[in-house]
Amino acid sequence: MATTDVVTGAFSYTGSFIARRLLAAGHEVRTLTNNSSAPRDLAGKLVSAPLDFNDADSLMRFMRGADTLYNTYWIHSNYGADAFVGAVLRSKTLFAAAREAGIRRLVHISIANPTASRHPYYASKAELEETLRSAGMSYAIVRPTLVYGEGDVLINNIAWVLRHFPAFAIPGEGAYRLQPVHVDDVASIAVTAGLAEDNTTIDAAGPEIPSFVELVRMIRQAVGSRSVLLKTAPAVALAGARAVGFFAKDALLTREQFDDLRAELLVSKEPPRGTIRFSEWLPRQQTVIGLRYASARTRHQPRVAPLQRSNT
Ligand SMILES: NC(=O)c1ccc[n+]([C@@H]2O[C@H](COP(=O)([O-])OP(=O)(O)OC[C@H]3O[C@@H](n4cnc5c(N)ncnc54)[C@H](OP(=O)(O)O)[C@@H]3O)[C@@H](O)[C@H]2O)c1
Repeated sequence: MATTDVVTGAFSYTGSFIARRLLAAGHEVRTLTNNSSAPRDLAGKLVSAPLDFNDADSLMRFMRGADTLYNTYWIHSNYGADAFVGAVLRSKTLFAAAREAGIRRLVHISIANPTASRHPYYASKAELEETLRSAGMSYAIVRPTLVYGEGDVLINNIAWVLRHFPAFAIPGEGAYRLQPVHVDDVASIAVTAGLAEDNTTIDAAGPEIPSFVELVRMIRQAVGSRSVLLKTAPAVALAGARAVGFFAKDALLTREQFDDLRAELLVSKEPPRGTIRFSEWLPRQQTVIGLRYASARTRHQPRVAPLQRSNT
């Protein structure tokens, strides 16, 4: 009999790549999601139910009989009902429901270097990792660096600025490095970790580690942009990002994100597990990347329900 797994967010970004990998390996896949539009290639292939954290019982019943839960749930910003403290509570509800449902193993997508920053995004990720480690379940924590791929947000939006503005402000010298990992590499690492037995915490990082300014130059070349790259004081670049963000109705780069970028938190200290090279992937996106602005916030915001209760 085929193994059945549950993926949170299989119609959204990382979750859809995990679901594709599981289906290709012959698993049956269920998804918890509030996204009603499945990617075309996944339509009709997955059973789905709402990711309703206010109904832990339904979450539990939906997961019953499944082997592994792949959890991609997280939020992108620290506002209102979206605040990270709520995301931690919701995730705890999900973990408790998974345990009650008899899920054998939980693969949780976290972030690289969560304990190296005091900023709320990282601190709440670190807190949730600790919760999972003491939840009494078999687990794998997968910590991606910067995830890119078809349909990503950050790389796309750098390309969008480069396509649409005459200048691109690099905060500081731009010498700080990052280690992009392709979303399908993250999925592959997660599924491999799901099939294992040991409790583990591993990074998901790609094979190349460009500096920020090198990364922007690569994207500039890929999209044929003539935008001038200006190295400016971080405060000036952040003010520029705020101004562009005002028109895009989004936060392009916050002070906290820049601090974490400059501290090279998007670089792994482990040998890379990802194999897809950013420099080889990028030229193939020439005609699509950055044509439109991608907003992680508006992608999910309308579906946020206030948290009514938590099981833990
Ligand atoms: N993207 C990166 O560069 C990056 C880097 C490091 C770590 N990560 C981690 O990787 C995981 C997956 O990230 P992703 O970018 O692939 O996320 P995503 O697909 O956009 O969203 C993942 C899941 O979270 C849900 N979600 C997101 N925002 C929500 C909101 N405001 N309210 C309610 N539900 C919301 C989605 O709901 P629906 O199913 O309803 O869409 C989906 O189930 C996250 O834990 C993230 O922190 C990402």
